[in-house]
Amino acid sequence: MVFVANSIPGLIGGGTQGSPFDLHDEQAYLAWRKRKLAGVPGSIEALQVVIQDGYQLSRQEMNAVHKALQRTNFAIYTLKADTGEDKVLIRQLGRQFGLERLDDNLCSDEDGISALKVVEKRREGEYIPYSNKRLNWHTDGYYNRPDRQIHGVILHCVQPAAAGGESALMDHEIAYIQLRDENPGYIRALMAADAMTIPPNVQNGQQVRPEQAGPVFSVAADGHLHMRYSARARNIVWKDDSSTQAAAEFLLNLFQQDSPYIFRHQLKSGQGVLTNNVLHCRSSFEDDAAAGQARLLYRARYFDRIVDSGSH
Ligand SMILES: [Fe+2]
Repeated sequence: MVFVANSIPGLIGGGTQGSPFDLHDEQAYLAWRKRKLAGVPGSIEALQVVIQDGYQLSRQEMNAVHKALQRTNFAIYTLKADTGEDKVLIRQLGRQFGLERLDDNLCSDEDGISALKVVEKRREGEYIPYSNKRLNWHTDGYYNRPDRQIHGVILHCVQPAAAGGESALMDHEIAYIQLRDENPGYIRALMAADAMTIPPNVQNGQQVRPEQAGPVFSVAADGHLHMRYSARARNIVWKDDSSTQAAAEFLLNLFQQDSPYIFRHQLKSGQGVLTNNVLHCRSSFEDDAAAGQARLLYRARYFDRIVDSGSH
């Protein structure tokens, strides 16, 4: 009998040239997995970078941000100076990391950067999804069209809430590893084009966004892993087959337990997260209107991914 090496799925691949996200390339996956897990820091402090001038980062500051991104796909920055309300700064900060193409979504202002704050009363016909309630685990723009997926995000805190509003983050590449280690079939199911469907958004009888079906995990043209996800039980339709359902349940369970891969942080004024759209959630918060302490965040969502931030 002639031994045909390539007929053994999961064992033979392209070696160092192969993609770690190819289920048939176990070798590339294991090599990347080892490096990736070794890079995960023991605490969030290792992912924090102090920036003197957000308009022009020093080489050292740039390197520190890139290093954090290569480890966990996000970095927490602290601007040294009090910059107050300055959207231009956020725009310029992003540009230094190759973040250029902003998503002008339903709730962003004319400049494409959303000012997130609690609005007491919804104005006529306005779409305001922002409240002080707890936000479940998700990646940004999971309801976007496939060609308008969000690959890079800046979330900048102008002013924190009077109480609460803690963010938690988990690198989606780590979620991928946990799923694949448990059962490669979970990855196969979540890479299907019809794995997760978002029903249309209808407001006052008008459809403001059509139904959106797509994969949870996908590999972009440049080889990086992208994730599209929401843990919301409502308004998410998972494909009706046993492996997709089991994969979705396993994924949800990752967030229910203590994990060395979940990093928590409460953003202060002048701090922000630069991220390749990792999984994240936020606890509920309370503003104190009388004391003038109302949470205000700027959010910029990009079709671009942060340059030089890959883990493979
Ligand atoms: Fe988000």
